[in-house]
Amino acid sequence: MSEILIQGGVSLEGEVCVQGAKNSVLPILAATILAGGEVLLEGCPHLRDVDASVDILRGLGCRVRWEGDALLADTASMTGCAISDALMRRMRSSAIFLGAVLARCGRAEMSYPGGCELGPRPIDLHLAGLRDLGAQIREEGGFLHCSAARLTGREIVLALPSVGATENLMLAACGAQGVTVISNAAREPEIVDLQEFLNACGADVAGAGSSAVVIRGGRKLHGCRYRCMSDRIVAATYLCAACAAGGDIFLRRAREEHLATVTASLRQAGCAITSDTAGIACRCIGRPRAVRPVRTAPYPGFPTDAQAILMAALVRSEGTTVFEENIFENRYRHVDELIRMGADIRVSGRTAVVTGVEHLSGAAVRCTDLRGGAALCVAALAAEGESRLFETGHIERGYEDIVRDLGALGARITGAEERN
Ligand code: EPZ
Repeated sequence: MSEILIQGGVSLEGEVCVQGAKNSVLPILAATILAGGEVLLEGCPHLRDVDASVDILRGLGCRVRWEGDALLADTASMTGCAISDALMRRMRSSAIFLGAVLARCGRAEMSYPGGCELGPRPIDLHLAGLRDLGAQIREEGGFLHCSAARLTGREIVLALPSVGATENLMLAACGAQGVTVISNAAREPEIVDLQEFLNACGADVAGAGSSAVVIRGGRKLHGCRYRCMSDRIVAATYLCAACAAGGDIFLRRAREEHLATVTASLRQAGCAITSDTAGIACRCIGRPRAVRPVRTAPYPGFPTDAQAILMAALVRSEGTTVFEENIFENRYRHVDELIRMGADIRVSGRTAVVTGVEHLSGAAVRCTDLRGGAALCVAALAAEGESRLFETGHIERGYEDIVRDLGALGARITGAEERN
């Protein structure tokens, strides 16, 4: 599907079970390399980025197959330690495989992961940390030639709390002799999920969720059966959809403690939100109100992945909301498309000022990236008339089936093959 048609002006009603978390299963799939046996990953979402990870594992000689909504990965048969350029280019976060391959094989060959639509995506912190553990890494012609006769645990201080670098170094440290402490580690819930998975495989990792993660390496790991957490950004998307279109929804498996900064903004916008261990309920009536400034920051700050999505929910609000994008350089690409629908947004550097308008009009709009595309779905639900979203392949990287889920909540939404 590369087009989505949405008839706006319909409020949402109903319940949906939130898919497994993309940003949790991707590092966990890399971590299966350390297990060296069968891992059954239950509730694994069917996503383009998961498909790319499966192809990387198969390219390394691992056996991977779907069993319903569970993915069975057997890495006992792993034979390779090189990831092709084509595979590396399919998914920007493929760098996450480096630490695990190095720890398992003592060598790793892969091309530099490309930048992406959000701007440059450097991995200098990943490489510095791996060198701290004793890896030799030669960067030549866009390729990384890595070797590590032996990895040795020690303290690594991250210059900034990078999610990917924290995860990559957790995996490499599992293969290092001795204790590794990652200081100034990222604190995202997906990192806690990775820790729980590694420990289910027999590792000894502690501290995830805090800024100091401690890994006692050198243990022989084994396969396991694991269910990853629900996707907090997908949950945020559907909450923002209810805010934009109005409605009364329940998101099963969503955990409010994982997106407290997003629900805080939605409550300021006038949504009535309650939650328990089963999920999050959200009731939004009438036009949203503008909210206090939204500044993206590492967890537990406001998630950069929800910036476009909340912005889309507020373009029809009463009042003005200021956004500040502090994580990525180029994460306002959705703004021009929202303006096509009648939004009033002014961008200057990292700041975007959203002045709410009373009416949005359906339009033909282009998905610029994963979360920008999801944001256009949110705005189209609040617009008058039909919107046609094209280049929706971006959305399929992170949403198992946004048409199915929003349709289950009562939206008038259909997917279609792109008209030429
Ligand atoms: C993860 O990306 C997520 N992806 C991103 O989600 C998310 O936006 C991001 O964390 C921040 O929360 C996955 O988990 C697969 P970072 P990652 O390393 O690990 C700079 C989505 O929409 N940096 O925390 O790449 C970097 O340039 C995606 O689901 C360095 O300078 O994020 C960025 O400015 C988008 N050097 C900042 O740190 C490095 O070595 C945060 O990056 C690494 C990162």
